[in-house]
Amino acid sequence: MKRESNKYNTMNILILGSGGREHTFAWKIAKSTKCNQLFVAPGNSGTAQIATNVNIGVNDFDAIKELVLNEGIDMVVVGPEDPLVNGIHDYFLNDETIKHISVIGPQKVAAELEGSKEFAKEFLYRHNIPTAAYESFTKETVEKGYAFLETLKAPYVLKADGLAAGKGVVILNDLEDAKAELKSMLVDAKFGEASTKVVIEEFLDGIELSCFVLTDGTNYKILPTAKDYKRIGEGDTGLNTGGMGAISPVPFATDEFLNKIEERIVKPTINGFKKDNLPYVGFVFIGLIKVGDDPKVIEYNVRMGDPETEVVLPRLKNDFVEILEAMSKGSLDKIDIEIDERAATTIMLVSGGYPEAYEKGKEITGIESIQDSIPFHAGALLKDGKVMTSGGRVMAITSYGNTYQEAIKKSYQNIEKLHFDKMNYRKDIGFDLN
Ligand code: AMP
Ligand code: GLY
Repeated sequence: MKRESNKYNTMNILILGSGGREHTFAWKIAKSTKCNQLFVAPGNSGTAQIATNVNIGVNDFDAIKELVLNEGIDMVVVGPEDPLVNGIHDYFLNDETIKHISVIGPQKVAAELEGSKEFAKEFLYRHNIPTAAYESFTKETVEKGYAFLETLKAPYVLKADGLAAGKGVVILNDLEDAKAELKSMLVDAKFGEASTKVVIEEFLDGIELSCFVLTDGTNYKILPTAKDYKRIGEGDTGLNTGGMGAISPVPFATDEFLNKIEERIVKPTINGFKKDNLPYVGFVFIGLIKVGDDPKVIEYNVRMGDPETEVVLPRLKNDFVEILEAMSKGSLDKIDIEIDERAATTIMLVSGGYPEAYEKGKEITGIESIQDSIPFHAGALLKDGKVMTSGGRVMAITSYGNTYQEAIKKSYQNIEKLHFDKMNYRKDIGFDLN
């Protein structure tokens, strides 16, 4: 097919992914006058209403290439980390027929910042970026690992080196439990390939927040901060989830604190990409912890957060496609980021049982009666005109407010109107900020 879109200076855009993050990307991109046709692969019931969903998996690079060529796509925006760690950007660059297409997301070597905890720790140390002290171990050095644990104070932080679907970090209070866990990860391959190496870290005590940075590889722009709520239970108890809610901005991130983040963490990170030849056009998600008055890095992710995107992008006033284009062209320095002064919050509705076993295929009702909030669909699909649950995290209800308390209240009021069998959500998002 001819690539007619360029004639009008607009673009055909493909978003990869199917969560609330990708619905938010689609919502923001669909508002842009620079977007001609918008595709999402595989997408969900939310993206189906504003874009064309294509039933292709995010790691099926050959099928993605075919789609890109058939539909004359000019830009691919990668949502999740998996295809980045698997080298989707490199796949495009190495193919003559698609190398000219913009891919938003770092190349494979740079995606190792999320793909390998050890790689990330070495990067942080090399560039003197504040982070927890650590050592890493393999099956061969497990005895040294036990000895290292003995030198540390509880709690003990053990991290599988590779991607482990968000489950690879284990924090234990008891030394013997920590040793047993180390053995289970290294010797018994608890997380398979992902735990052939294990990073043991100093425990950092503080409150967490996330910082999101856009980069074209040289220039950077900082997006609003956000705080997410990872635990399933109220009062931050129970199992870890992908995220149960988020708030932006983070009330305790004062200008002085944000300045420390920029000077001590963001600048050396972006400069580090250059120094280490890590080609990076994309989003940098820096997981931070505030220890005393100082920020330290917990982790890098090479993508936006979910559900943080559902509160960060709604506060961005700019045309998102203009920003993405500047990222791909290396002209991010020409963009002035404009942020809505209002707070944004989101509450995640999940299937009962999540993050353990849960049922799917439940009809979600009441969406049309939502007022003054934005329902970002996540694990939900359209079937015969009905919105049905298809995952653990089902829908994120985002609201604006002059304060985050006001925004949260609006989200909870709208959630009252929504229903699906065994719907669950945290009723205390923001509880720790008062
Ligand atoms: P990660 O997958 O690296 O983000 O780790 C998951 C969670 O474990 C983080 O969000 C923190 O809550 C916690 N965590 C990770 N590393 C540390 C650390 N060094 N000290 C305290 N908590 C940590
Ligand atoms: N909400 C945390 C993440 O996206 O990893």
